[in-house]
This record gives sequence, structure tokens and C-alpha cells, in this order.
Amino acid sequence: MVGNEVGPAQRAEAGVFRGGRLIAERESVLHSWCTQSQWDAPTVVGGEGARLRLADGRSILDMSSLAECSNLGHQHPRLVAAIRAQAERLCFVTNAWGAEPRAELAARLLELSGFHGGRVFFTLGGADANEHAIKIVRQALGRPRGVVIARDRSYHGATYLAMALSGDTRSRAQVDPDALGVSHVEPPYAYRCPYGSTSEAECGERAAAAVEERILRFGADRVAAVIMEPNAGSNGIVAAASYWPALRSRTSRHGVVLIADEVMSAFGRCGEWFAWQRYGEAGRPDAMTLAKGLTGAAVPLGAVVLSRELAARLDDVVLATGLTYCGHPLSCAAGVAALAAYEEERLIERSRELGARLRREVERLAERHRVIGDVRGGHGLFVVVELVADRATREPLAPWPETPAALRRLLAEAMEQGVSFGSRGNLLFLAPPLVVEERDLADALALLDRLLGRCFPGLSDGPTA
Ligand SMILES: Cc1ncc(COP(=O)(O)O)c(C=O)c1O
Repeated sequence: MVGNEVGPAQRAEAGVFRGGRLIAERESVLHSWCTQSQWDAPTVVGGEGARLRLADGRSILDMSSLAECSNLGHQHPRLVAAIRAQAERLCFVTNAWGAEPRAELAARLLELSGFHGGRVFFTLGGADANEHAIKIVRQALGRPRGVVIARDRSYHGATYLAMALSGDTRSRAQVDPDALGVSHVEPPYAYRCPYGSTSEAECGERAAAAVEERILRFGADRVAAVIMEPNAGSNGIVAAASYWPALRSRTSRHGVVLIADEVMSAFGRCGEWFAWQRYGEAGRPDAMTLAKGLTGAAVPLGAVVLSRELAARLDDVVLATGLTYCGHPLSCAAGVAALAAYEEERLIERSRELGARLRREVERLAERHRVIGDVRGGHGLFVVVELVADRATREPLAPWPETPAALRRLLAEAMEQGVSFGSRGNLLFLAPPLVVEERDLADALALLDRLLGRCFPGLSDGPTA
């Protein structure tokens, strides 16, 4: 960008100047998960902590950690320094050879998760971590076409197998899960329990039982794995405390591998290093997948962490998978620095404390705003609010996955006032970086309070000014 040539109005139009002509991003880039002709997102030119600096000069509070991944905030100095230092030492070496930051990061992950004697396979991000987990587990078990059981209303990524694993409206039209050996069960979505339960605990127990029934329907020797999110990233579904341990014991009983997709839920987002740790050893999976917070999103990286038992099965087989940039040294160096930052800045504990407070504050908002139907999460800085047209009947505000017009207005007004909230359909996400200033968090909630009143006047008794 030729800084001096760009005035405020032109800066607002994202792009770069070449030979005096603005090459507009709008015309030249395909953006993910949106209708191209309606693309209307800001251009970010910098950031610090939980704040982003936009091309038009404004500072925005990031209440979604972009895609729930910038756990360490933006431009964390420790990450920037680690990437710079590694770039000066060694930018790249293939994953088939050795690299110091890769070994160091693997050892730290095994230590933090207590997967002693296990191994780590590094990937490029979350979707291919899940793809690799399935491929690796199938190879380890010698069941190359083994069935994988996943959940409806889940998200595991946007590559083809990851889309097949996902029980998500965005994927269903594009891929046939059956063809890839994937079978879905209903989730422990207690607010609208698909098993007809009115209690959260019973909904969770029935959902875990449904997984076991599905294993038995296929025959345990034909099933390779169950893959589930301990805390679902795309809708905030988190079951009663008995669910995950029940899933663990029901899969163990049949020799089926349990994979925890921790791509969103790890690294403090849900109050623990890894969300399954909330349940102690009773919740320990056989494998887990990581990405996002692994590097605080500063550079792309994912990982598959395997138990000692699974890793041992791979000792004498050729691991038939890999991508050129798997375990990239720049990314692994950032991973090492990210883990040190979480630990030394006590961010896992901070997220747990602020998350509980955030949930209480949102519950207080629900007393004033009838549009709030359900409040989920709060184990860490991850609270999801489901908005409804009628609290008594739980009628959705708009048919899934549509985003109601009033919510769109709320998001736009919040942005005007310097706060970016996350949303999907009827859901509002509150998931700021774990380094968010407490005053910023309080201001964002006060703004939300005002905007809920203003945008949903018929469903609110709150202030509307
Ligand atoms: C739980 C979960 N798994 C997998 C993914 C896919 O990760 P990526 O976008 O890095 O491929 C996501 C991304 O949002 C996620 O939330």
C-alpha cells in the first residue's frame, strides 16, 4: 500500500494501490461463507490486545476473537517475536525431517494434556486435523473403512471429510456422509432436546446412549471412532456434566476410539487447557484435535494428539498421509510461544473467572430481554445466546439458519459503536480474546443491553436509548 496516496474514503474501500489505481478487494477476492455481491466487511490494518484497527482509522473491540481463534488477542508481542526469531533461524523444513520447535511443541502438548507416551501429528488447521485424525485412527486400528459416528449440529471443518463429519446445514448439501463412512446421531441439545427430555442431565444421558446404540447397530468391529466436540463451537451446545464421561465409558466398552474435537474449545476458551479436562480422567479421550488457539491464530497450525496406545499401533506401519506444510517450523515456534503466554499470563484461569462472570451478566440481561431464550457456556470466555420470538414456546426468531433482520441491525449498530459481536442464525456469540480488558467487556455488555432494547422493542423491558 502506498500510504500517502490513500485518503480516508479510499481506505474504507479495501484494496491496494498499484500504479495509481485502486485494486479493490471487493472485485478481486472470493470471501468465505458469504454472498460475494453482498460482501461488506471492514478491512483490518492492525491490532492490539482485544482491539482491531480498521483501515478507516477506527478501533473496534473484538468480541468474537474473529472466529473464536485469536485467544491471545491481536499482535501479541511474544508471538510476533517468536515468529520473527524462527524466520531468521529457519523458515521451513519438511515434516518428514526433524525441526526443533516441532519437537518442543509436541512435548509440551503431551505434557499439558497428560497424554504421556503419546504422539502428535501436526496439520495446517482444524479441518485437516480432523481428517488426519480419522485417517490415522483407521490406519492404527486396521479398519481403513471403519465407520465414524459424529453428531448433528456439529462443525468439524470445510474440507470434504470434515464436511461429512459436520452435522451442519452448511455442509449437508455438498457431501454424502454415508459415502465416506460417517453416521450422525442427535446431539445433547438440552434447550430443544431431540430425545424429548426436559432435564439437561437426562438429555445428555440419552444422547450418550444413542451413540452406543449406533455402535451396536453397525457392530462394534465395524466402527472406528466417535468424534465429538466437548463444547460445540458453532452453537455453544455443552451437555450436562455426566454426558462426556458417559460417552467415554460407552465407547471404551466397545473398543471404539473417542476423538475430542478441541479445535475451538481448547486453550482456555472453555476454561481449561482442553475442555474434556473439566471431567478429569473420566473424560480423557483417545485422541484430540487442535488448531485455532494453538498459535493464538497468528499463523496456521493444527494438531492430532494421540494416546500412547494408539501411537504404539503406528510404530511399524507406514503412515499414509501428510501435506507439504504439516508441522511448519514458523507455526510450531508460534505454538511454543503461545503455550508459554497462556501459562505465564495465567490466561486459562482468567478465562474461567471472566467466563463465569460473563455468563452471570448475560443471565441478568435475560431478566430484562425476553428475546433471550437460552444462555449457554460460560465455563470460559465463550457464551452463546439463543434468541427466540416467544420465550414460553421457544419459537425461534427466524427459521434456522437465517439471521433475523433485527439481529443484523443489532450487529451493524454495535459495529458502528465500535464493538464486533459474533453471530450465526439466531445465535449471538460472546467470545472475546482471553486478554480482553475488564472495562471493555463491561462496556460491550452495556452496549448489548441498550441494543437488545432498541432492536427488539416488543421482546424487551430494557432501556432503548
Ligand atoms: C470445532 C471445530 N472443528 C473444526 C473446525 C475447522 O477448523 P479450520 O477452520 O481451522 O479448518 C472449526 C472451525 O471453526 C471448529 O470450530
